[in-house]
Amino acid sequence: MPTDDIILEARNLTKEFKGFVAVKEVNLQVRRGTIHALIGPNGAGKSTVFNLLTKFLTPTRGQILYKGRDITRTKPADIALMGLVRSFQISAVFPHLSVLENVRVALQRPLGTSFHFWKSESSLYDLHDRALELIEAVNLTPWAGHTAAELPYGRKRALEIATTLALDPEVMLLDEPLAGMGHEDIEGTAALIKRVAADRTVLMVEHNLSVVAHGSSGTWMSPEIVWAKRH
Ligand SMILES: Nc1ncnc2c1ncn2[C@@H]1O[C@H](COP(=O)(O)OP(=O)(O)OP(=O)(O)O)[C@@H](O)[C@H]1O
Ligand SMILES: [Mg+2]
Repeated sequence: MPTDDIILEARNLTKEFKGFVAVKEVNLQVRRGTIHALIGPNGAGKSTVFNLLTKFLTPTRGQILYKGRDITRTKPADIALMGLVRSFQISAVFPHLSVLENVRVALQRPLGTSFHFWKSESSLYDLHDRALELIEAVNLTPWAGHTAAELPYGRKRALEIATTLALDPEVMLLDEPLAGMGHEDIEGTAALIKRVAADRTVLMVEHNLSVVAHGSSGTWMSPEIVWAKRH
């Protein structure tokens, strides 16, 4: 496998909290264009790994590489600029703004880097049209004029994904995107993540293997599974 294919890599990643080892020597390779799911029981260290990869926590030991570059000491904001984006980091949803306004605000965030293809084509893509496109992509068109506060839970998560997508991330990290969702929203959100992953890389944390591997109507996502275990 050519190294170019590995977009995100952790080497011997370890995190100790005052001597308590929460994450121990994790090695992880995420190939470009795939969906990876980090699976494991409560307390296994999934969220900690996630926070280490997005630099919200500093590793005690080990190394993180993104596109072959060592980002172990890079700040979270700079990592977002490089196209590695976690969902909640940027998708602070404003409850009193409409769905459309929320997506427009996200599109206007000053992350002007080359991975913002729509910016370089701004003559073709009006901000408003781009916002409507994203809203359509996450099946929120009927809700476009509603405030975020009015959305049912599952639709709110869809809005979070839309505002994350507004940043045009190359790698999107989602910590339990299906958590707390009702049955009716799980299928749709899962299908959405799968669509998102068509031209990006997705790394998600999920508690429940069966939810990731099978929708109620068969297999909908076939992620590469990375097991986290308590030790
Ligand atoms: N800031 C912290 N300080 C001390 N201990 C922590 C801290 N964050 C996490 N831990 C501990 O590290 C371990 C791993 O926690 P983590 O939240 O990463 O697990 P998880 O796999 O995401 O669990 P869950 O499925 O419940 O979300 C737990 O024992 C937790 O109590
Ligand atoms: Mg967690």
